[in-house]
Amino acid sequence: MGLIGALMESIPAYTGLSATTFFTIMGLVVAVYYLIAAMLAPPPVKYVPRDARPATVQIGVVTAEELRQYDGSDPTKPLLMAIKSHIYDVSQSRAFYGPGGPYALFAGRDTSRALAKMSFEEKDLTGDLEGLNATELEALTDWEYRFMSKYVKVGDLKSVDTKGNCQGAKPAETVDVPDAAKLVDHGS
Ligand code: HEM
Repeated sequence: MGLIGALMESIPAYTGLSATTFFTIMGLVVAVYYLIAAMLAPPPVKYVPRDARPATVQIGVVTAEELRQYDGSDPTKPLLMAIKSHIYDVSQSRAFYGPGGPYALFAGRDTSRALAKMSFEEKDLTGDLEGLNATELEALTDWEYRFMSKYVKVGDLKSVDTKGNCQGAKPAETVDVPDAAKLVDHGS
């Protein structure tokens, strides 16, 4: 007698049930188990891509004065900051640039000079690169790369001549990366 035959004979002997009844009950038990397990299981985790970030609004070409509105004092507006006349949305780093943050003074400004000179002085909170030495310009380029890779560029600053006339967006004396949004920072 094979193993299966022995099993079929031992089921009625041990359980008092016919083999058919026994297997029907076992099947029902397994089905009920899976039903309850499915009901109690947590909902599947929704996959969110690591780079997902709130949509940023492009503001186009604005004056330095208009940029000041985006300094975090109005919580409904994004936090913006410019380097070399290119404006970046830094809202994701509100802890740095928002009110009370260590770098709040940079928000709503072109901070090129301050970053190049590693200065927090009011007089350096400008996009004026006049008189910066090679080391400072190199430091500024490093900052620019950091911002291009971390934040989305949302606009440009209008340059203004000595008579106060707008010249349109400043010509880029900068590394030109047309779409900073594609350079997403996967490291931090
Ligand atoms: C005692 C000196 C300083 C210390 C210990 C310090 C420390 C830090 C730290 C820990 C971060 C966060 C880095 C990260 O997680 O990505 C940071 C970010 C930053 N620091 Fe400083 N810092 C100092 C001076 C300065 C100075 C002098 C400037 C410019 C004038 C500056 C500008 C910035 C900016 C702009 C960021 C934010 C960059 C971003 O948005 O990713 N820091 N700093």
